[in-house]
Amino acid sequence: MTAAQESTFADLGKVLVIIPTYNEAENVERIVSRVREAVPEVHVLVADDNSPDGTGELADKMAAEDGNVHVMHRKGKEGLGAAYLAGFDWGIDHGYDVLVEMDADGSHQPEELHRLLTALRGADLVLGSRWVPGGAVVNWPKSRLMLSRGGSLYSRLMLDVPIKDVTGGYRAFRKETLLGLGMDQVASQGYCFQVDLAWRAVKSGFKVAEVPITFVEREHGASKMSRNIVVEALWRVTAWGVKARVEKLTAKKG
Ligand code: GDD
Ligand code: MN
Repeated sequence: MTAAQESTFADLGKVLVIIPTYNEAENVERIVSRVREAVPEVHVLVADDNSPDGTGELADKMAAEDGNVHVMHRKGKEGLGAAYLAGFDWGIDHGYDVLVEMDADGSHQPEELHRLLTALRGADLVLGSRWVPGGAVVNWPKSRLMLSRGGSLYSRLMLDVPIKDVTGGYRAFRKETLLGLGMDQVASQGYCFQVDLAWRAVKSGFKVAEVPITFVEREHGASKMSRNIVVEALWRVTAWGVKARVEKLTAKKG
């Protein structure tokens, strides 16, 4: 095999797919093997918040058998955002050049990863998008569709971001993008973490691209979406939007 055949995305550097988990015992093995099969050269980091259902131990077993699989054991459930931030730090410390976000439950299809990586060649951040032409959602109840579309629309209007799917969680970042958007100031814990990072990337002048994905609702286990997560997103997005408007006004006056 030639070097070029061994690695399709070698030009992007080392790629790490970060998969945060909380009680994903029914999903973790399947998702890791799908990733490894879809793009064999990537490494995977499972960031587990000490799941009571044994997800972390299942991930350890996979890591023992596959040198491209790594596990981060965190002390307890601290939210998706916190798990990703810890995963990004780990990845950057370990020399990865591209950091990918992916859910454990199969909603983000590893078979579409090559699309995100291909687009990253011409961008600083690539968002897998359900709401651009070619994007789709499969098996979501109407209530969840409305919540997502509403959340995306509210965030776009409030923050003035030119992004169709600002809440999505299937993303590929260049290391430089993460280092340049002020990760250390991110306080978002729940899903508004996604809005937070996308908005920061836009404000910092990074090139953000959206590629269509088909988001497939999970078949096993339960979503961790909760009332608290929605409330956090609502107040944070509102506060960011108000602050940005005030800053704009005072800048004009000054
Ligand atoms: N480590 C850790 N800690 N992982 C977590 C936590 C946590 O506190 N909460 C959730 N996760 C993991 C889940 O185990 C799963 O792998 C992934 O994060 C996504 O969680 P889900 O509960 O499946 O999320 P969802 O399907 O409701 O929401 C998805 O779509 C949203 C947009 O509509 C996610 O991709 C969100 O990030 C996204 O905003
Ligand atoms: Mn899910």
